[in-house]
Amino acid sequence: MSESKHSSLPRVSLSGDAVNEITRRDFLNEITLGALGIAGLGSVAVTYQFFSPNVLFEPPTTFRAGNPDLYPVHSVTFLQDQQVYIVRMPEGFYAVSAVCTHLGCVTQWKPDAEMIACPCHGSKFKSDGTKIEGPAPRPLPHFAISLTADGELLVDKLQNIKSEQALRV
Ligand code: FES
Repeated sequence: MSESKHSSLPRVSLSGDAVNEITRRDFLNEITLGALGIAGLGSVAVTYQFFSPNVLFEPPTTFRAGNPDLYPVHSVTFLQDQQVYIVRMPEGFYAVSAVCTHLGCVTQWKPDAEMIACPCHGSKFKSDGTKIEGPAPRPLPHFAISLTADGELLVDKLQNIKSEQALRV
């Protein structure tokens, strides 16, 4: 009975474009699969994040600063990635923090004025970190500096030392 009904419907010949048309059902299927895929990827990402260790990766606090001959006497060299000045004076080497003791801005060595200046609130320091003026409450700290077995400078930023302690080479 129903076959005869269908067979009585007029047949419409489909052109090439009409064959490629997407039906509403196909469209909704595609959307649903896409949404499920995005939700699946999101849940995988969240699960990965949940199981990965919750640690903060920071650069090592001990670093090699190279051969002492790299630094001329009476020089101040800023090591940007470590935020440390390697200061070489006739009495020896100092490793001075470049982070201002006021609010933590990174200071800059001004060779013309022969001083370290903070761009944030104007604190000024001598090359050995001694405070000259400004709101900084303390001088710039000195870090422990030593020589490795193969003769390179080694700075330990976890170990503060007195400002008079210079490394003689
Ligand atoms: S942070 Fe350097 S003076 Fe304020």
